Amino acid sequence: MAGTRLPPEDNDISQVRVPVTADLISDDDRSVAADSWSIKSDYGSTLDEDQRHADASEALAAAPYRTASDYSSDKEEPDAETITSMLGFQSYWDSAYADELTNFREHGHTGEVWFGADVMEVVASWTKGLCVDLSQKELQNHHENDNSDLDKQGKRDLADWSVLDVGTGNGLLLQELAKQGFSDLTGTDYSEGAIDLAQSLADRDGFATIKLLVDDILETKLDKKFRLVTDKGTLDAIGLHPDGPIKRIMYWESISRLVAPGGLLVITSCNHTRDELVQEVENFNQRKAPEESDISRNPPVFSYLDHIRSYPTFMFGGSVGSRVATVAFLRS
Ligand SMILES: C[S@@+](CC[C@H](N)C(=O)[O-])C[C@H]1O[C@@H](n2cnc3c(N)ncnc32)[C@H](O)[C@@H]1O
Repeated sequence: MAGTRLPPEDNDISQVRVPVTADLISDDDRSVAADSWSIKSDYGSTLDEDQRHADASEALAAAPYRTASDYSSDKEEPDAETITSMLGFQSYWDSAYADELTNFREHGHTGEVWFGADVMEVVASWTKGLCVDLSQKELQNHHENDNSDLDKQGKRDLADWSVLDVGTGNGLLLQELAKQGFSDLTGTDYSEGAIDLAQSLADRDGFATIKLLVDDILETKLDKKFRLVTDKGTLDAIGLHPDGPIKRIMYWESISRLVAPGGLLVITSCNHTRDELVQEVENFNQRKAPEESDISRNPPVFSYLDHIRSYPTFMFGGSVGSRVATVAFLRS
């Protein structure tokens, strides 16, 4: 269950990766969490969950890594791929956000800012830059020889970017994107408490136009496509469930339906490097590509566009990486 929540100023990035091991979860907790995993969100299902799970299992069987439940090893440390945590269960988040709502109501605390406020601000301003660039390129294509007022026009076009933040938590990334000039903003989370908290904070901070909905990304009820989809820490949390590898496959299926053609997906992760995220996307593209397809007629679903270079890098596992990776993918 969720522990005491720290006020944001006491948080640092080292807290994000740590509480991860299957041993932390009792059998009781597992079954409670497994039950809560299957609770449907408020507005009716359109796809059969068993079928999604079966499709993902099939894809996983063909994938070059194994599921958590296949793990049997006498190694002292489980492989990174098999690490699981309470953070993979909805019951954890429901409990965490119940605490955060209480803290908000009693003390006005904002709650946890995952990966810290600096990362959130960098993600928002960098994402804005990408969107402005893309808008300007589109404009240039339309008015090939007329560069006048492109800059102003590009910024105005930010208003045309519909934005979805999946697993929005307290919704602060959406507030940050609003400060950057985005105005069509939606946040979803499978935890009702998260949405209550995000709504309370949006109302308090003057961002009442942000739309907030309870929705599980793995069985989303949204039938709209968004030009920009952001994820900060949600794929990480999904991957920490004991069925993480299957759920990650379901995630990619779902997210690919939510990003509009020509749109952007911006993922921020603390559990995967840029190269790992790019590889995961390539695996997804391969699963989706019809065999021997002509790449000019069937471009990959997502292609790598850019990543944030300004985070500090560290050596780990023999390679250089950052504790936080933010990668942008373009939807074909
Ligand atoms: C690490 S927190 C990040 C929260 C927020 N994005 C942020 O950066 O502060 C992960 C969030 O993902 C949400 N989440 C996990 N699995 C989800 C799912 N299947 N569908 C929707 N939200 C999910 C959790 O409730 C939690 O709010």
